[in-house]
Amino acid sequence: MVEGHVPFHILIIDDEESILDGCRQTLEKSGYSVTTCGDGTGGVALAREVKPEVAFVDLKMPNCSGMDIIEILSRDMPDIVLIVITGYASIVSAVEAMKKGAYDYLPKPFTPDQIRAVTKRGIEHRELKIEADRLRVEKARMEKNFITFVSHEMRSPLVTIQQYIESLKVIAGDALTGSAGEIIGRCEKRLTSLQDLIEHWLDLSRIENGTFSEAKAPVELCEVLQKSIEEMSPLCQRREIDLRYDTGGAVPRILGDQESLLRVFSNIIGNATKYTPPGGSITVRTDHDDYYVYVIVADTGQGIPQDKLPFIFEPFYRVRGKEERQKGSGLGLTFSRKIMEAHDGQITAASKEGEGTTFTMKFPRLSGL
Ligand SMILES: Nc1ncnc2c1ncn2[C@@H]1O[C@H](COP(=O)(O)OP(=O)(O)OP(=O)(O)O)[C@@H](O)[C@H]1O
Ligand SMILES: [Mg+2]
Repeated sequence: MVEGHVPFHILIIDDEESILDGCRQTLEKSGYSVTTCGDGTGGVALAREVKPEVAFVDLKMPNCSGMDIIEILSRDMPDIVLIVITGYASIVSAVEAMKKGAYDYLPKPFTPDQIRAVTKRGIEHRELKIEADRLRVEKARMEKNFITFVSHEMRSPLVTIQQYIESLKVIAGDALTGSAGEIIGRCEKRLTSLQDLIEHWLDLSRIENGTFSEAKAPVELCEVLQKSIEEMSPLCQRREIDLRYDTGGAVPRILGDQESLLRVFSNIIGNATKYTPPGGSITVRTDHDDYYVYVIVADTGQGIPQDKLPFIFEPFYRVRGKEERQKGSGLGLTFSRKIMEAHDGQITAASKEGEGTTFTMKFPRLSGL
């Protein structure tokens, strides 16, 4: 024990006087502060009062079950390291006690060295646990700060830039011709992909810190799909691609986050648009059975070679082909899969090179319609 430090407090609950005396002597000699108690009920009261770092509990005491004490203490005072004292014949009950929250066990009879060693281990375990808890709280705090930072410091200026570009276009009017117009167009495109990236990043942070699941609500998938199709239509028209939505009857509701689902659908339809040559078509449809709702996006584009298909959801993976080069970071499908998983759903792809690709998204349906 380091001089000047408050000694660690050890509580021993055992009905055998000789055990209490022996443990007290050994542990006090090692610099611990020791409290002992000969019965279970008194032991629990003492634990609450002295708040020891480590408590030894005899499993077999008259009029009291050590197992109950373990259960009560591990529930009420999770920071205490509980160690059970057992007879040789009761290893099974030691295991049972560990399932109920005990950290270790000490079989009778034991030597002073053995009780010293198990106490030291218990104290070290407690320090590590406290440190791990502290780091977990710190991590959660940093993640929360990161989300706030990204939302305010990055998202807001981008919205302002977007508004400035809009104003510039209005002010310049017809004067914005030729390469000037083209440059502004490119700025807008880059801005949109940066904004998409930030939104995806925020989705991932929310998924990781648990706030995503808390915010889920019943979602009408057809409304989200409709919105996504409206968003993608101008691009399809420009690329001369026929984008169709087969509404096909009522779609059961699912539990989800509307905004992030919109990003998933726009990613998948956006991909279909990017990787389908002019003249092709994209069909979006929904389906359901008793348990799941399916959203299916099929295109008649360039397809994905079979040997590349298993990798398309990997971060930064892009299929390199001889077709026209499309801009992208290779993250869209990675984000989409994460968001689908956060909806307890799945996303899969089937494809035939030169014929087209079909993405299927499967969601657990909410009971009822
Ligand atoms: N509908 C599709 N048809 C053909 N290939 C596709 C299709 N969807 C995805 N791919 C292939 O899978 C790769 C990964 O797609 P992903 O959406 O993750 O990235 P990206 O579109 O390249 O970039 P971004 O991050 O901008 O979305 C693409 O580069 C493309 O090669
Ligand atoms: Mg993409």
